Amino acid sequence: MGAAEKLHVDDATLSREAQAIITGNDRGGYTVPTAGLYPYQWNWDSAIVAMGFAAFDLDRAWAEIETLVAHQWPDGMIPHIVFHKEAPTYFPGPNVWDTGRPVPTSGHSQPPVAAFCAEELLARDNGALGQARAARVFDALMRWHRWWHDYRDPGALGIVAITHPWESGRDNSPDWDEALKAVDGSNVAPYERRDLKHVDAKMRPTKEEYDRYIALVEFGRSLGWNARDIGQRNPFFVADPGTTFILLAADRALLRMAKFLNKIDDVPVIEEWIARAETGVNRLWDASQETFAALDLRTSKHGGGVSNAAMLCFFAGVGSNDQRAAMIGHFRRIRAKTGFGVASHDPDQPNFDSIRYWRGPVWAFMNMMIGRGLNEQGYEAEGHQVWEDTRALLSGYGFAEYFDCNDGSPAGGGAFSWTAATWLQYAAQGAPWAPQIKE
Ligand code: GLC
Repeated sequence: MGAAEKLHVDDATLSREAQAIITGNDRGGYTVPTAGLYPYQWNWDSAIVAMGFAAFDLDRAWAEIETLVAHQWPDGMIPHIVFHKEAPTYFPGPNVWDTGRPVPTSGHSQPPVAAFCAEELLARDNGALGQARAARVFDALMRWHRWWHDYRDPGALGIVAITHPWESGRDNSPDWDEALKAVDGSNVAPYERRDLKHVDAKMRPTKEEYDRYIALVEFGRSLGWNARDIGQRNPFFVADPGTTFILLAADRALLRMAKFLNKIDDVPVIEEWIARAETGVNRLWDASQETFAALDLRTSKHGGGVSNAAMLCFFAGVGSNDQRAAMIGHFRRIRAKTGFGVASHDPDQPNFDSIRYWRGPVWAFMNMMIGRGLNEQGYEAEGHQVWEDTRALLSGYGFAEYFDCNDGSPAGGGAFSWTAATWLQYAAQGAPWAPQIKE
C-alpha cells in the first residue's frame, strides 16, 4: 500500500467534521466507535468520546459516561463492551461471552480512563448540576477502581494485571506475545471472524492469535466470570504498563474529585492506592531494555518492548530521574525513526509493523494522554511535537481509527469516534490538554 493522498483541511472544517462523526455514531445515550466494525459501546472509547461531546454538548457528554457506568457489575467491574442491541457485524457477540447480565456485556474490563474524562466534565461545569452528576459517577468509578486494585492486583504489588489482551485495549501488542504462548488455542469451538469483512487482514491479528483470544473468553466463561477465580487461575495474567499508568493517573483525578466533592471517607483509600502504585511501578522496569514493560505475573518475565503505553509513565507522574531520562531517550530515538509519533511499538524491534494493530501505528487518543504527561512533567518540546504530529495526521489523513507511523496512511475503521473526540478536545482547549479541577 502506498502512502494515502494527503488532504489539507483547516481547523474549522476539522471541528465540523469531528462533530458530525461523533453525532453520526451516537446511538442514543451511547456512541459506537465506528459503524459496522464496532457496533456496540466500548468502555474507553466511550469515556474519550465524552470529552469530545463536552466541547459542544456537556449534557450529552455526561450521558455518555452515565450510560457506561450504568452497566457496572455487582463486583464493581465496568465491562469493556456493552451489547446494547445485537448486531450481526461483530464477533464475538453476547452469546459467546455469556455473562448473564440483564443487558449483555463482555466479561472483562478496559483501561480506566473514565475518571480523568469525568474530571474534565466537572472542570467545565462545577456548579450544582455538574456536581450532582459528578458525585453519582464518582461513586461508580470509586467502586470500579477498587475492583481493579482488589482483583487485578491480588498481591497488592501496585501494578495491575490484565486477563485478556483485549482488556489492555492494545489488543495485538507484542507485549502479550510471549505470555499468550501459555494459552492453548487448539481446541476452541469453531467460529467465523467478522473483523476481516471490514478491514484488510494485514492490519489485523493472525488466526493463531485469534484462536488464543477466543480460548481465553471460553476459559473466563467456564469460571462464570468470577473475578477472584480468574485472578488465580487464568493462564494469562500480565501486568500492563498501559493499564497501570492509566489507573494511577485516574486515581489522581479521582482524588481531586473526592476532595472537591467532599467524599472525605474515600480520600485515604485513594491515597493508599496511589502510594502503592508509585513504588510498585518499579516492578515494570525492564533493566535489560531500559524501559517500562509488561510483566507476566505467572512467570515473572518481562515481555514486549518500548510501547506507546510505556510512554504514559509521564502521564502517571512516575519514574526516577534515570528512568525518565531513559524513556525520553527512547521517545526521541523512536520519533527520529518514524514519520509521525508516537509509535505503538519500537521500530528497532523485529516484530515492529508500521500498519498492524498495536505493533507500530499511531493512535491519536493515546497521543493526547502522552502529550499531556510530557507537558506536565516539563518535557514541553516533546509534548508540543506530539500535538503537532497528531494535528498533521488528522488534518492530512482524516479521522481514521489509527495511522501508519511511517507515512501517515489512515488504517483500520474510518469516521472513528475517539479520533474525532481527540480533535475536539484539542481544538476546544486550543492547546495541549490539561484540564483539572482545583483541589
Ligand atoms: C479495538 C482496540 C480497542 C478499542 C476497540 C474499539 O479492539 O484495540 O482498544 O477499544 O477496538 O475501538
